[in-house]
Amino acid sequence: MNWILHDPATRKKMRLGTNPSSRLAWKVWEESWKARAVTASLKGKGIEIRWVGAVSSEFFLKKSKSTEPWSRFVEIRPNARGFSIRTGLSNAQIQIRNLNDLVFLRSNLGGLLDALGFLKKPKEDQELRYWEEADLGFHRQSLEFERGPWGGTYRMGRPKPKASRNPRPEMRILLGSKKTGSLSSVIQKRASNRNFSHKAVSIQKLSRFLNQCFGIQGKKRPFASGGGIYEQQLYLAIADHPSIPPGFYRVNSGQSCLEKWKTENDSKLVLAWQQVALQNLAPSKVAPPIVGILTSRHALLAIKYERIAYRLSLLNAGCFLQAAALSAADLRLAFCPLGSVNPSLFEKTTKIKMMEESPVAAFALGEVGSN
Ligand SMILES: Cc1cc2nc3c(=O)[nH]c(=O)nc-3n(C[C@H](O)[C@H](O)[C@H](O)COP(=O)(O)O)c2cc1C
Repeated sequence: MNWILHDPATRKKMRLGTNPSSRLAWKVWEESWKARAVTASLKGKGIEIRWVGAVSSEFFLKKSKSTEPWSRFVEIRPNARGFSIRTGLSNAQIQIRNLNDLVFLRSNLGGLLDALGFLKKPKEDQELRYWEEADLGFHRQSLEFERGPWGGTYRMGRPKPKASRNPRPEMRILLGSKKTGSLSSVIQKRASNRNFSHKAVSIQKLSRFLNQCFGIQGKKRPFASGGGIYEQQLYLAIADHPSIPPGFYRVNSGQSCLEKWKTENDSKLVLAWQQVALQNLAPSKVAPPIVGILTSRHALLAIKYERIAYRLSLLNAGCFLQAAALSAADLRLAFCPLGSVNPSLFEKTTKIKMMEESPVAAFALGEVGSN
């Protein structure tokens, strides 16, 4: 087998065969590479292996004694050049032309595959047992800098974010707010509360809540958000209110108002959101009068950030949830984050495609019940 090694920095190439002298050359080469990216391609076969870090040449040339199959953390994805193989267990990537090459790799390069985390270990590490394949793949994908361009690369140019997507709201409810209490006492007070009253949250109180957690007055946002992009939208499913018709509302922070979303059956939809909330809130008996849904317009983040976009959207959602919890505590409202959000119900409600905008966090809100 003749391998060609590429040095992406100097663009030097080197041939690596299986004879002893080329082994020696490989060792020297490896020395000068240390933690740089190594790309090895097998001539004629179109197989390329890329990784960062010290991997002994022995691994490269040694046949594996391992009889283990591929690791459960291996992902295979078709791409323009055939298939890319990655593993959640290292930064290595393998490019092959067709799937038959998998058999070739497994029988000829077991040592390397093993060293780079592509093969199952006879006994899985304790910590690894807690990881789902997709989560670890995602975790590594969004954190592993060595896998290629990363962070704010603006690889698709810098298109202007789209403006509000409900240009003709069915109706508008104006919001306003006043300042309230001190932070430390609010932090003391904060607790998830699943005990909701049937009593409605007044528009004034709701306005304060929204201003303190989402910002509906002025340009300053009350929570940090990666890249300052603020890809979030906030929606409220509101039930049983004396001055707000039941329905699904978008919080328009720029214009300090709630914009009602036109739906086929407002009450039925609100009920569906309340049921989703109740499923999360067992043993809560009274459905929360308000269900909040924070969405992320993924493209806004993904335009700038490569691979960390999804992760940022989740971190941002956490920042928002904390602001919302504190705001509710300050106003003595019952508030509880909801662990599961329902992307398909959101799609059904708004007709916005999941890939475009999708829930990343949700919460239940209301006046505190007497139980
Ligand atoms: C991201 C997140 C998701 C949560 N999801 C739920 C949920 O679905 N249902 C629920 O009853 N509580 C949920 N909670 C509330 C936690 O159970 C609660 O924060 C935790 O028990 C600590 O209690 P405390 O908030 O009163 O301090 C969630 C909290 C967070 C931060």
